[in-house]
Amino acid sequence: MNFAARAAELSGWMVDVRRDLHRNPELSFREERTGGIVAAFLEEWGYRVRRVGGTGVHGFLEGTPGAPVIAIRADMDALPVQENTGLEFASTCPGIMHACGHDIHAACALGAARMLAEAKKDGSFAGGVVMLFQPAEEINKGAEAILRDGALADPPAAMIFGLHNHPAYPARSVVLKEGPLMAAVDTLKVRILGVGSHGAIPHRSADPVVAAASVVMNLQTIVSRNVDPLEAAVISFGTVHGGVANNVIPEDVELTGTVRSFRPEVRDALHARIETVAASVATGLGCRAEVNIRRDLPAVTNDAISYACCFRAASDVVGAGGIIQATPSMGGEDFALYQNRIPGCLFWLGVGNEGIGAVHPWHSPKFVADESAIPVGAAVLAQSVVVATNG
Ligand code: NI
Repeated sequence: MNFAARAAELSGWMVDVRRDLHRNPELSFREERTGGIVAAFLEEWGYRVRRVGGTGVHGFLEGTPGAPVIAIRADMDALPVQENTGLEFASTCPGIMHACGHDIHAACALGAARMLAEAKKDGSFAGGVVMLFQPAEEINKGAEAILRDGALADPPAAMIFGLHNHPAYPARSVVLKEGPLMAAVDTLKVRILGVGSHGAIPHRSADPVVAAASVVMNLQTIVSRNVDPLEAAVISFGTVHGGVANNVIPEDVELTGTVRSFRPEVRDALHARIETVAASVATGLGCRAEVNIRRDLPAVTNDAISYACCFRAASDVVGAGGIIQATPSMGGEDFALYQNRIPGCLFWLGVGNEGIGAVHPWHSPKFVADESAIPVGAAVLAQSVVVATNG
């Protein structure tokens, strides 16, 4: 089956599905309506459907015996954002918006699922397909939840493909890269414990405010002095909390931040240096540092084989001219958790278009996407499955 041509025929339907989801966004782990719509479609097309991870949907299209099972993943959750796009299909739910375009991902994946079922029926495809519609990507919890329910194990999937829209790239481009694409994400918490005092008698204190300021500054030297300049890493603090009065030196200060990296060696080195630098700076200033680093997500890393399948599929759909080499992002994606188990490739689907105001970044209340990219996303997903199945 020529998926590019078939997706073009189905584009009106896919856009309708997307707009319906856009009007009715649901927050993480509350994707009940969305999951219901997805499950009903999959059942209609002959998928065996079960619910996973609460509101998630697992659909299995059985292949001929011995054929590999290839998975496609889409996410379904929206964000606590008040939409401000003025679109005629804008969110009807106050304070909730598909501001990351997961409605687009769901529409693309449904398009792919429908075409693969059609291809199975007309005899042009005989592989097994697992469709995963996961909840709660925005809070990094959905992949974990559906994996716990056997998303990739029952039946065992050999490879997985997924996409994320990207408004910084031109609509209908397929943006790809082998190796690291999105960063590992860790949450950093540093508590500086000192001795409080009156602000006018600082010599009686061990001032955690001064120590915290030094810790923040000195942790910045880890990226600049300890990480190879050709590697990428980020240490950013987002909160600083301590004290209640302007003239009282508090007992403690708490800092929270985010740590990002691509390679596991860099990630481990960052953690070790954060512990050492925070502890020694605090100790040097008469305080103590308690460091807590939570590993939230590994990096999204596209292995050579699944990348090659996706690249070939993209070439078939948009031609070499429609493919852009991705510049990696320090953002995170829980697609990485699937890649931790089986080979997989995540690609970005360009949805940018200045002419229609599709220029705002993810999570913006003005986020708009060029819907003409949807059939391209659907066709590349479906074709990736076929290429991976045929080897
Ligand atoms: Ni997203």
